[in-house]
Amino acid sequence: MAYPLKRLLITGAAGGLGSIARRRLTGLAEILRLSDIAELGAAGPREEVTPCDLSDFAAVRALVDGCDGIIHYGGISVEQPWEEILPANIQGTYNIYEAARQAGVPRIFYPSSNHATGFYPRETRIDVTAPVRPDSLYGVSKCFGEALARYYYDKYGIETAAVRIGSCFPEPKDHRMMVTWLSEDDLVALMERVFLAQRVGYTTLYGVSDNLEKWWDNSHAGFLGWQPRDSSEQFRDLIDQRHEKPGPDDVESRFQGGFWCGLRVD
Ligand SMILES: NC(=O)c1ccc[n+]([C@@H]2O[C@H](COP(=O)([O-])OP(=O)(O)OC[C@H]3O[C@@H](n4cnc5c(N)ncnc54)[C@H](O)[C@@H]3O)[C@@H](O)[C@H]2O)c1
Repeated sequence: MAYPLKRLLITGAAGGLGSIARRRLTGLAEILRLSDIAELGAAGPREEVTPCDLSDFAAVRALVDGCDGIIHYGGISVEQPWEEILPANIQGTYNIYEAARQAGVPRIFYPSSNHATGFYPRETRIDVTAPVRPDSLYGVSKCFGEALARYYYDKYGIETAAVRIGSCFPEPKDHRMMVTWLSEDDLVALMERVFLAQRVGYTTLYGVSDNLEKWWDNSHAGFLGWQPRDSSEQFRDLIDQRHEKPGPDDVESRFQGGFWCGLRVD
């Protein structure tokens, strides 16, 4: 069988989205190289397990060697104090890009976040030309990752799809996630399109399913051929039963980032 990629590196492979990539992307590359600081278990067929702390440049440099694609899920995935964000998301993402440049890795899937634009009011629909409005230090780190990825494309030609993922969980956990939900199947299809597309250049887009309420316009990324198929509507009754709707003036109701807009780590 001919695989589109020879060796695909998945960082954060022990985490939620990394586990999905490990399980579902076996047809995309001949070998999946899996990395994390958390336990990854034993390597399966056509897998390499390579633990690595992303803040260690020498280790990351060795990690990317021989790879022709990277899905960079490793890092802090929620709001945390700066001392935790800095080594994992800032230094770690720089290390991945600089190592990719040195090793000649042509294309990277970078999971940005909707929290890069979380302070937009809910009653707006934005596209990726809207200036960033991060709602957290975590969101700030994602803006850094996007800027870094664009720089490495403009200067060195390393392609990136920076996907501002909404909320990728088995089901939405509250009313806000009815808008931001991304199904596993839609995520898998998007990861595949990013590596199968002839070119991606530097592209930012939102990773969200075809939900009824929409905050984000992806029409500029039509060339990718990614068409989300799932909708959060199947969970509407469940969410209405389980969760009280926040009041109209609550921070949760005002901004796309929801309660993250009120989080403080100082
Ligand atoms: N799940 C979502 O809905 C969502 C939404 C937006 C963005 N994202 C982004 O996608 C990525 C994956 O998300 P997730 O939900 O799977 O997160 P997760 O927290 O489940 O997984 C992240 C993994 O990164 C690893 N990690 C943390 N620091 C590290 C370091 N210094 N070196 C090496 N590994 C380290 C952790 O051990 C963990 O296994 C994250 O970058 C997250 O910010 C996820």
